[in-house]
Amino acid sequence: MIVAIDGPAGVGKSTVAKLLASRLKYLYLDTGALYRAVAWAVLHNGLDSSDASAVAGLLPKLSLQMEFKNEAVAVRLNGKDITDELRTPAVSAAASVVSAVPAVRAWLLPVQRQIGQKGSVVAEGRDIGTKVFPAAEVKFFLEADATVRAERRHRELVAAGHSHAIEQTTAEMAGRDSRDRSRAVAPLAPAEDAHHIDTSRLSAAEVVDRMIAVVAAKL
Ligand code: DC
Repeated sequence: MIVAIDGPAGVGKSTVAKLLASRLKYLYLDTGALYRAVAWAVLHNGLDSSDASAVAGLLPKLSLQMEFKNEAVAVRLNGKDITDELRTPAVSAAASVVSAVPAVRAWLLPVQRQIGQKGSVVAEGRDIGTKVFPAAEVKFFLEADATVRAERRHRELVAAGHSHAIEQTTAEMAGRDSRDRSRAVAPLAPAEDAHHIDTSRLSAAEVVDRMIAVVAAKL
């Protein structure tokens, strides 16, 4: 069983995907972490993330693994655990830029599908229901008001020790969203058969309860 969860930043995808995976005892696949790992490598090699040919040229030198231990997921790049370095504003911005490079998307496609073969998976991203797992048994597309999304992302950043003005978070998120929605390859978009959930006024537990009801009907 594959459960696909797509949507823009700040809708609560990661929180609910983790909770849902844990309640169903499925693997949690955070595909954004894979794009972030490529972005991390681009930044650490001093490359310009918008230079598509330089980014594509780096890919053959990368070996990317996701390790699943109990409920924790670690991302290893060329053997180094970089999990804790993937959620900075710099990596977020670069991830959105490198994710528009077709070679990066093509390179990450088999990585994601291989993880999908490990068993039942809750996979979260932007193109899971449309591109990575178009035959997923259950698909969700999460949405929320822009102000609610910016506040959520801002709280996460502050909790992680980044001093960021809310206006800056709002502007960065809007930039990232419009890039993710307008890119030529696999843009952020709901699959035709996705269940839409507006999370603006729901707690994570309420969203998960709704998802469980949909999944249960398929089991
Ligand atoms: O979900 P996230 O914020 O960790 O994702 C980081 C970036 O990666 C996001 O701006 C768009 C990109 N991404 C993507 O293009 N496709 C995915 N399936 C997941 C993430």
